Amino acid sequence: MNVSAFLESLSSQATATFPPQTSAVAQAVLQGLSANPKYLPSWLFYDAEGSRLFEAITRLPEYYLTHLEQSIFVRHAECMIAVAAGLKREHLSVLELGAGSASKTIILLRALIARQGRVTYIPVDVSEAALQWARRNVHSALPEVQVQPIRSEFTHERSLHLPEKDRKLALYIGSSIGNFDSAEAVELLRWLRAQLKHGDALLLGTDMVKPVPPMLAAYNDAAGITAAFNKNILVRINRELGANFAVEAFQHRAIWNPAESRIEMHLDSTRNQTVHVAALNRSFDFRAGESIHTENSRKFTLESVEEILEKSGFELERSWFDENFWFGVHLARAVETAAMPDEDAEEQAA
Ligand code: AVI
Repeated sequence: MNVSAFLESLSSQATATFPPQTSAVAQAVLQGLSANPKYLPSWLFYDAEGSRLFEAITRLPEYYLTHLEQSIFVRHAECMIAVAAGLKREHLSVLELGAGSASKTIILLRALIARQGRVTYIPVDVSEAALQWARRNVHSALPEVQVQPIRSEFTHERSLHLPEKDRKLALYIGSSIGNFDSAEAVELLRWLRAQLKHGDALLLGTDMVKPVPPMLAAYNDAAGITAAFNKNILVRINRELGANFAVEAFQHRAIWNPAESRIEMHLDSTRNQTVHVAALNRSFDFRAGESIHTENSRKFTLESVEEILEKSGFELERSWFDENFWFGVHLARAVETAAMPDEDAEEQAA
């Protein structure tokens, strides 16, 4: 029986006892734990507790990504906006994928208000809690910003419809693009490109390749917050799918994979064990030392950034870095490609 037939056969038994999002989560868990080697997709991290733990990670001293990106915004926000608005000094609305708490975005929004007075901010996130948080933070820091949140599972379903057709500055920051492999990253950016008009801008944040020790430390913090974030995926599966993972019998491990230029996170089974997942009516065996691969966090070079942008219908215009070139923020323009005709021209022709 294939995966969807199996899930369909389950749904009659499972819907009465499990919440409505069970199906997407169940499908992901069934596929990932049936694979060899086992994996779980990293979008499963972000339930309410996972979003809270990720926010705590961004405040850790070892997690240089957020600190550096924030400092780049503080130094260069006006310049980024000037480049994004272009010679015509166009009025920009801000669309942000994976908004989180919006703390870095506030720096950009403040600079935009100084330039154009009024700003519409459209945060898009998988988590309702994160959207509320973004709305509250932006509203208390900058009451003049109009916030129009959209809840969307954009990381694994492509169902976003933008409420208006202004000139856009899209943000995908925090190196979240690094959580996708190259093909998936291009697919996501192409989808984003299709939501934009020719001439709209994208600010993309990327963690850059650097010496291995600081990268490993960022994913192996002394306080154990990243380990808790990693293990929360099992807590979520226990709660949402009625599984019985013994969370303490899995160990967090982060490694550098030089061939793929990425940090990988794994959960290693510390003993032979069997886990039952009630919503799937299935059990999964784990050998001692066997791992579940839970996340990839790709580290980029300027060439690899240019490559994914170019393949997705964007042209790199300018990059800003910290003084050590550990983190980059890149301004790219949505350009016309064969696959993405100029919508402005189409509109005028109509
Ligand atoms: C959201 N994303 C960019 C983070 C990263 O660094 O890959 C998620 C994370 N995983 C462990 N720590 C933080």
